Amino acid sequence: MNPLARLPQRVVALRGKVFNRVNGDDAITIPNEHIGVDRFMELYSHPAANGRSKGAGLSDLFWYWLSPGPEVHQEHLEPGPRYDDVARTTLSMLAGPSRELSTLAAGAASSVLDELVRGPVVRFRLRDLMMPIWAEYCYRLVFDEDCPRHARDLIVGHADDVVTSLKCTGLRHPRRRARLTAYLRRRVVAGDVKHQLPQSLDLDEQVHYLQGTFFNTAVVQLSEGMAHLLLALAQHPEVQQRLADDPSDDTYFRHVLDETMRLYPLFGIAHRITTDDIALDDGTALPEGSVLCFSYPDYHSTGYRDPAVFDPARWEQLSAKDAHHIPFGIAANRPCPAWRISPLAMRAVTTEVLRRFRLASSVSHTRSIPHRAPCLLLRRDAEHPAARQRRALRRMRARDRAEDLLRSILQLGLGTWMVLDARRKRLAGKYFEQHDTQGCPVRH
Ligand code: HEM
Repeated sequence: MNPLARLPQRVVALRGKVFNRVNGDDAITIPNEHIGVDRFMELYSHPAANGRSKGAGLSDLFWYWLSPGPEVHQEHLEPGPRYDDVARTTLSMLAGPSRELSTLAAGAASSVLDELVRGPVVRFRLRDLMMPIWAEYCYRLVFDEDCPRHARDLIVGHADDVVTSLKCTGLRHPRRRARLTAYLRRRVVAGDVKHQLPQSLDLDEQVHYLQGTFFNTAVVQLSEGMAHLLLALAQHPEVQQRLADDPSDDTYFRHVLDETMRLYPLFGIAHRITTDDIALDDGTALPEGSVLCFSYPDYHSTGYRDPAVFDPARWEQLSAKDAHHIPFGIAANRPCPAWRISPLAMRAVTTEVLRRFRLASSVSHTRSIPHRAPCLLLRRDAEHPAARQRRALRRMRARDRAEDLLRSILQLGLGTWMVLDARRKRLAGKYFEQHDTQGCPVRH
């Protein structure tokens, strides 16, 4: 292999090393050579694997990326009454009849696709196309009314800024994020939110909770999940055709989604900080305060025949419950609250996309998907000469390779800078010097 072609993988590996070194945590990635995949679920479910932010250098980095308001982001709250209050609120905001939630997603997809995709063939980055759809969807969940254009732009601007910095393809823009905070604050003060917000949070915290959970996590995760799914369809035309021919085949859609999320889990790692010692078989123990990083790609690639192959048919013989498959986390330890609505909303959006377009793409497909999934959208009711399409796909592949090389170098530089900046700011470290795990000020 040409050494230049290997550069992006090398830069990714180097980035991992730089991050670990600079963070200073002695994080333990599971599975590893001492703790095998057979103990993955046991450790992930262990009652002492329940710390989220306090005591890990890694938290300073996540808090930096998720600001403003990382201290009330559900994912980063420590267990206790405040967490319970927030988690209850999220679940109630995501509740509702499946049919209504699907219709809402289909409506958001229809209006955005008809507005943004014009012409018989359009080249789009799928993540960018999905973001406004999920911004409209989440706005509806929160405010129960149609999303005005300026609100959609604020939400997309914020969510895109967070995920861009998380992937180290750009720096943070706190002022852009603050514009959404100011907008949400006005709406919360005016009483426009159609749900009771967590009562244990004050006004600013309630605003940050909404911003972090619904206008960052929800929009980003659904957009990235859809970018993976549509890119997989674009590169497996027979699977795409079968879904387009029979959108009512729920079982087949589940198999395709399970296979997409098995190969491209949205979480690379989920980390926990142990709040007590955890005994191991060999007589040793993981001490309290250990940072455990549960590796989804490693877990998802064991126990399958040809794990690197995209094969939805494997799910005809397998049950997601019995396989190494945890796309939404694990029930025993803070699973994703959107495990029910995400698949049904994603199915509705997929149907709207495939109703209008055939998809084709020749770019690389990796779990971190930093290119935002460039894709051709070919309108189904137009003629598409095969030779022209082949030329467009060749150009797309060449451009992807060149971008990949430059981007990986950029990511190394920006990533290192942000890791250092996060370490200087010590957002989580400073917060826990002044607050206990339930957000109450501590006296020194
Ligand atoms: C394709 C869509 C999605 C996938 C694959 C996904 C995946 C996950 C996973 C794996 C976790 C658990 C991580 C861990 O153990 O630390 C998680 C947690 C979480 N997710 Fe999702 N997610 C998706 C969509 C959403 C949406 C739409 C929301 C909207 C509110 C959401 C909100 C959250 C929250 C708040 C948590 C933290 C849960 C807690 O700590 O209590 N996710 N998600």
